[in-house]
This record gives sequence, structure tokens and C-alpha cells, in this order.
Amino acid sequence: MRLVLLGAPGAGKGTQAKKLIEKYGIPQISTGDILRQAVADGTPLGKEAKSYMDKGELVPDKVVLGLVQERLKQDDCKKGYILDGFPRNTAQAEALDGMLNDMGMSLTAAISVDVPKEDLMKRLTGRRTCKNCGQMYNIYFTPPQKEGVCDKCGGELFQRDDDKEETIKKRLDVYEAQTAPLVEYYSKKGILKSIDGTGSIDEIFNKLCAVLES
Ligand code: AP5
Ligand code: MG
Repeated sequence: MRLVLLGAPGAGKGTQAKKLIEKYGIPQISTGDILRQAVADGTPLGKEAKSYMDKGELVPDKVVLGLVQERLKQDDCKKGYILDGFPRNTAQAEALDGMLNDMGMSLTAAISVDVPKEDLMKRLTGRRTCKNCGQMYNIYFTPPQKEGVCDKCGGELFQRDDDKEETIKKRLDVYEAQTAPLVEYYSKKGILKSIDGTGSIDEIFNKLCAVLES
């Protein structure tokens, strides 16, 4: 199963991808997570990417495409994968089609997780992530038992640098202008599925699985 998860910042792509990993045993490929790791490691790639990420802009296609191409070649991708946050514009979607074509493969589905704009700001400003295991929380909706501490592993929780209100606004604008057109792109290809991304995390996951199994 080769999936693309489409959705605005805060739509719950990462949250749902983590649940899909458990159920289907295929890896999540989050370009945002890969880039954040490069920033944390202080690599040349991370240094280049940081300036774009801090402004809420897209990192240049060339950089991202190189990362994805390498990642898709790894052994754990043989059974499939969940692409989270990639592709982000038409050029990336076309490049992905080209890569898959070269490998004799195609996408199973592109799933658009739809959440009203009013809900996204609260989800993003309230997000906290464990430094150690990556578990996600939300101080408004799914707070940890003890403030700042991960329930699962006791790790320290952090707030993403780009989850500041001004940067979130920019990310939402970039999504509308550059990423939202991919809904039509995949619809034309006949592989688009849309789900309502409001409700509890488990409710959304059930809808997602129903769509995948239909
Ligand atoms: P990226 O990391 O991809 O961020 P994003 O698309 O902005 O999306 P988020 O990760 O913020 O949201 P999400 O949908 O994963 O939501 P989550 O599950 O965390 O990209 C970051 C940056 O990297 C970009 O701006 C760009 O610079 C660069 N980049 C990345 N990929 C790129 C690419 N391909 N090309 C170029 N540049 C790229 O949930 C959010 C919060 O909501 C959490 O607190 C969660 O607990 C909560 N939540 C989830 N579901 C629910 C629910 N049902 N009810 C209540 N709360 C919920
Ligand atoms: Mg995410």
C-alpha cells in the first residue's frame, strides 16, 4: 500500500500516520520530520532548510526530492509506505509519479484529511511532541498527564519552532496556494479519497481505515 496523506498543517497527518504504521506495518515518510531531524543534527541540509521552515515557506523542491528518492529506495519501503507532507506542490507530485514509474509502481491512494480552518490554529498552537519518542499531545485536546512530560516514555515535550501564530498563518497560506491544488491533481487521476478530519482521533482513524478497505 503506497499512500499519500494530504491535508493542511494541523489536519492530523502525522497523528493518523502513526496509527497506520501500527495497523499496516508500513513506514511513515514525513518530509517535515526528516527536515527537522537534519536541523537538529546541524547538517548542511538542515542549515539550508531551517531558514525556509522558520518562515513557514516550502523548502526548495530539489532538496526535498533528493531526500524522498533516497528514502524510497530503502528496504522497509518494499511493502509500501505512508507519505506525510509530501508531495507539497504540483512539481513534487509530478516528480513522485516519475520516480514511481521508474520503479514500476504507482500510488494506491491519496487521502485528503479535511479540517475547517478555524480548528487548525488551536491544534497547532496546542501541539507538544516528545523529544524522545515522538508521541504527540495537544494541551487543549489530548494533554499529557503531567505537564511537559511524555506519558509513554517520560521524555521531555517540546513545541515546534514553526508553531508560532504568525508562522502558522504563513503555512496555511502556503498550503492553500501550493498544496491544495493537489486534491484536484489526484482526483483527476482517480485515486483521491476525502475524509472528514473533525471528531476524535479514533473516529477519524476508523473512517480512514474504512476508506482504505473499500
Ligand atoms: P510538516 O512537518 O509537514 O508540517 P505541516 O504540513 O505544516 O503539518 P503538521 O505536521 O503541522 O500537521 P499534521 O497534519 O501532521 O498534524 P498533527 O498530526 O501533528 O512541514 C513543516 C515544514 O517543513 C514546512 O512548512 C516546510 O518548510 C517543510 N517541508 C516539509 N515537507 C516539505 C516538502 N514536501 N516540500 C517542501 N518543504 C517541506 O496534529 C496537529 C495537532 O493536532 C497535534 O497536537 C495533535 O495532537 C492534534 N490533533 C490531531 N488530530 C486531532 C483530533 N482529531 N482532534 C483534536 N486534536 C487533534
Ligand atoms: Mg506532521
